[in-house]
Amino acid sequence: MKDNTYIPKLAKIIQIKEEVGGARPIKTFRTQFIQDNNFSFKCGQCAMLSVFGKGESMISISSTPLIKDYLQFSILKMGRVTSSLHEMQEGDIIGIRGPYGNGFPMEKWKGKNLIFIGGGIGLAPIWSVLHTALEKKEEYGDSMLIYGARTSKDIVFKQELAELRKKMKVHLSVDVEEPGWEEFIGFVPLNVLEIKPSPKNSVAVTCGPPIMIKFVIQNLKALGFEDEQIYTTVENKMKCGIGKCGRCNIGLHYVCKDGPVYSWAELKNLPQEY
Ligand SMILES: Cc1cc2nc3c(=O)[nH]c(=O)nc-3n(C[C@H](O)[C@H](O)[C@H](O)COP(=O)(O)OP(=O)(O)OC[C@H]3O[C@@H](n4cnc5c(N)ncnc54)[C@H](O)[C@@H]3O)c2cc1C
Ligand code: FES
Repeated sequence: MKDNTYIPKLAKIIQIKEEVGGARPIKTFRTQFIQDNNFSFKCGQCAMLSVFGKGESMISISSTPLIKDYLQFSILKMGRVTSSLHEMQEGDIIGIRGPYGNGFPMEKWKGKNLIFIGGGIGLAPIWSVLHTALEKKEEYGDSMLIYGARTSKDIVFKQELAELRKKMKVHLSVDVEEPGWEEFIGFVPLNVLEIKPSPKNSVAVTCGPPIMIKFVIQNLKALGFEDEQIYTTVENKMKCGIGKCGRCNIGLHYVCKDGPVYSWAELKNLPQEY
């Protein structure tokens, strides 16, 4: 009998790291499947995580597909499912189904400079593609990360960002002034204008809150980026993840299948339902 695609595979949480505390906490979970399986994925794809008895949530895979030992997810506590995930301990079991979505077209980006622009938890999907590009750096041009959060306490992957600075340019920002902060102060789109990444032979990948994405794209355009050089992800609410329930549609597009990754050239022609 054919496998039921809605039945998740069991996975054990092998590591939990608190990234951000406070009112909008973020934790990073590493998981391993209980039984061997053929889960392979592309950067930018997601998985549906189940907390049994609570429900399911679509979450981007933040680890690189080059690591086979575990799948990593970085999760902002929002409501029922994500709060339950935040209460879980190492050794607890969750369900995972997927992978879902189209992923980033990294093959098309070979030889190009990659400019990653993230805000808040939006660094999670970027983290997978950024590390994959770093591991295969001979295939790409120069990479750069422009990343911001509300305050320095809201920055995710802090230790890893310190390490990343040895390998690529990293430009951080916080929204408002705070004691001891020596980098950019202001919203991420303004930092993009400050840094002025060159559009020449470049691709810009931006993930974060919709309002940030809107103004990042506007500012990238002002710097001379073409619509085809800008990629983003759309995080419409999802239920089935496989193009059946109609929860995630933008016009005729099922974001869970046709997205969540879109170039601005594609997205700007879709109805503004995201
Ligand atoms: C393709 C995709 C990738 C995602 N990747 C990540 C990720 O890597 N890390 C992460 O922390 N979150 C990610 N999310 C968001 C995550 O799916 C939701 O935060 C989660 O499903 C909320 O579930 P909940 O049961 O905890 O909250 P609920 O109890 O369902 O809702 C709590 C609140 O969150 C709002 N909400 C729920 N889903 C969304 C959504 N998709 N967009 C905006 N608001 C929402 C609800 O309207 C409500 O106000 C992603 C979503 C999508 C569609
Ligand atoms: S989530 Fe059901 S159709 Fe996309």
